[in-house]
Amino acid sequence: MNPEHAKGILTIYRLGIDEGNATFRDHRPHLAEFDAAKLPRHRFVALDDSGEVLGWIAAAPVSDRCVHAVVVEHSVYVHPAARGRRIGGALLRRLITSTEAAGVWTIQCGVFPGNTASLALHARAGFRVVGTGERVGRHHGVWRDVVLIERRSPAI
Ligand SMILES: CC(C)(COP(=O)(O)OP(=O)(O)OC[C@H]1O[C@@H](n2cnc3c(N)ncnc32)[C@H](O)[C@@H]1OP(=O)(O)O)[C@@H](O)C(=O)NCCC(=O)NCCS
Repeated sequence: MNPEHAKGILTIYRLGIDEGNATFRDHRPHLAEFDAAKLPRHRFVALDDSGEVLGWIAAAPVSDRCVHAVVVEHSVYVHPAARGRRIGGALLRRLITSTEAAGVWTIQCGVFPGNTASLALHARAGFRVVGTGERVGRHHGVWRDVVLIERRSPAI
């Protein structure tokens, strides 16, 4: 992930937010905020032949109490026009490789129950459902449950 990918990343992020099934977030993402939140060594993009961003993945520490992040939460977004081509799966594998190499033992993520694409993607990559939080937050005026999923590394 390089500075020239920022525009494509933020566009895909915004498209995913606007669809309303990926995140509680409802304001436009900003690069500075993204940059401050995401761990530099665990952020990746998928590019087409001309260098356009098709999707991205990035992890953030779940807690600021540990200097060295050993449990992270991630976000993965693929451009609507590029979905179903296993780009999300490839990004997830890349993140699993980088985090395991860095000693991270758990990757976790909260998913809306209706986000079948994300639940299928993560199940394929070895994530398990920890449980469902009920009415975790309001999203556009509606209380929404969140499925917590995790992948505990078998290698660490
Ligand atoms: C979730 C998302 C990243 C998946 O990306 P993708 O590149 O389309 O996923 P892939 O093509 O790699 O699919 C991975 C697996 O999930 C399955 N899958 C993908 N979309 C699916 C859907 N809509 N319904 C059922 N299964 C689906 C695929 O069958 C695939 O399994 P396979 O390799 O055995 O065929 C993409 O839909 C997206 O960006 N959504 C909006 C943002 C979002 O919700 N992010 C997750 C927040 S928790």
